[in-house]
Amino acid sequence: VQTDIPPVKDTLPFQVGAAISRAQTIGGHGELLTRHFDSVTPGNALKWDATEPREGEFTFDEADHLVAYAADHGLRFRGHTLAWHSQTPAWVFKDGDRDLTATPADKALLLGRLENHIRTVAGRYKGRIQTWDVVNEVVDENQPDGMRRSPWFQVTGYDFIRTAFRVAREVDPAAKLVINDYNTEFPRKRQALYNLVRKLKAEGVPIDAVGHQLHVNIERPPASEIEKTIETFAALGVDQQVTELDVSVYTDFVSSYTTVPEAVLAEQGHRYKEIFDVFRRQAARLSSVTVWGLADDDTWLSTFPITRLNPPLLFDDELQAKPAYWGVVDPA
Ligand code: XIL
Repeated sequence: VQTDIPPVKDTLPFQVGAAISRAQTIGGHGELLTRHFDSVTPGNALKWDATEPREGEFTFDEADHLVAYAADHGLRFRGHTLAWHSQTPAWVFKDGDRDLTATPADKALLLGRLENHIRTVAGRYKGRIQTWDVVNEVVDENQPDGMRRSPWFQVTGYDFIRTAFRVAREVDPAAKLVINDYNTEFPRKRQALYNLVRKLKAEGVPIDAVGHQLHVNIERPPASEIEKTIETFAALGVDQQVTELDVSVYTDFVSSYTTVPEAVLAEQGHRYKEIFDVFRRQAARLSSVTVWGLADDDTWLSTFPITRLNPPLLFDDELQAKPAYWGVVDPA
């Protein structure tokens, strides 16, 4: 690990984090992590399929390790995530072989499962989790009401969101509670999420912050749209966080390089710089920025949306600083 370059966290006016799994706490990865970052988010370890694969059977192996590692190394912890439609076991939305429906009995059953899940998971780490992504990806701007037709919404309407925030606040009152989503820098998605947060805040739902995932690519969306999103949500008086930043080197869902050209990595560096210029300008509205991975040897974009070489992060496979790193730390 390079020790002659500035720690990312020393160069930015907000908390900076990385998504990790157990592998990022070991050897050079652990050194890189603790040297450059203030906080961590588990990439998968706190999702429902990891923590409650069968009803009432909880498994906390990796999550316990990561929470303890963070505490031992002075890293803040972002919990991700309590209610999502993805990486959630099928049993959650079923009664035996039958899919739950919008009847009062099924709704009560599902909200009960949600409450028990949150009490157990958030309760276990009470006081040790700085921030929770309470609900993830609940918006669908193509629905008339802007709400994703997940089983959560189809069975409970807005109540799963109300329940999730209420219970999370009750079991861990010190944790900052986030509503998290992707593509929030696109106008229609931005508006749909804005409308939802305004409505829920007006009802008194304890939402502290809006999380912008910010999975972007080397060209789009324009930095001006990212800035517009941060300015728009500021009007709601909520804190904001960037929760899952990465910069794909592709602008489509089919291309792939066998080696990524140096010029493309340089362009990625400029793109990181233009995005962090926005964050610096908006620092008063942003409490943290998290990149979705530590180094290019482990990134979800190597399989999503197709399997291909896609180095989207600040450090390369050998844990060396890329132009992307310099774009973040050296804005001159
Ligand atoms: C991704 C993880 O990084 C992968 O390891 C996993 O296979 C799929 O999920 N939005 C989210 C994250 O909120 O939880 C996703 O994480 C990436 C997209």
